[in-house]
Amino acid sequence: MLYYKDILNKNKKWAADKLSENPAYFDEMAKGQHPPLLWLGCADSRVPASEVIGAEPGEVFTHRNIANMAIHTDINMLSVLEYAVNALKVRHIIVCGHYGCGGVKAAMGNDTVGFVGKWIRHIKDIYRMYRDELDAIADENKRWDRLVELNVKEQVTDLAKTSIVQSAWKDGQFLHLHGWVYDIKTGIANDLEVSMEDSSNLDELYQIHL
Ligand code: CO
Repeated sequence: MLYYKDILNKNKKWAADKLSENPAYFDEMAKGQHPPLLWLGCADSRVPASEVIGAEPGEVFTHRNIANMAIHTDINMLSVLEYAVNALKVRHIIVCGHYGCGGVKAAMGNDTVGFVGKWIRHIKDIYRMYRDELDAIADENKRWDRLVELNVKEQVTDLAKTSIVQSAWKDGQFLHLHGWVYDIKTGIANDLEVSMEDSSNLDELYQIHL
């Protein structure tokens, strides 16, 4: 119970600190949001979206799930994406994975059942796509790191496969997709340089005639 009371008190202190810096802070916040960024990150508690990029409230529209996945049948993710792109007109979407991702690790093994087991099966599919490259990495931790990176790359592509993103591009909307990997050991996020700014690099198979 102590912890629970403590976090409520921390919230009050946080709000008071914001008001002491700017008495109109919450009045301005209540007027609406115009975030330039959608963050698709891992649910891992060590990778808090706004905090690691020094962003303020109102700056990052956020969706987080296990292993930062963009599953094309996930109406939760798709609803966030649709609202972010069509209503908020975010300019950038960052898929941010992280080294040490337990979801990715679980996908490399055979012991995870239940809902998590079903969820990470999508990552197993990615392993299979890159099996030659991954199996050639003898060190298990290095193989894990590489699968984290490849998963991010594939999730960026999976966002590009959606009609939401392709429609925005067709309409000439500025929308850049990026893939990052955050390193929990250093606090640094690296750009994997898998950015997509239009559908020109998207496999023809996935290009929708809109
Ligand atoms: Co993770």
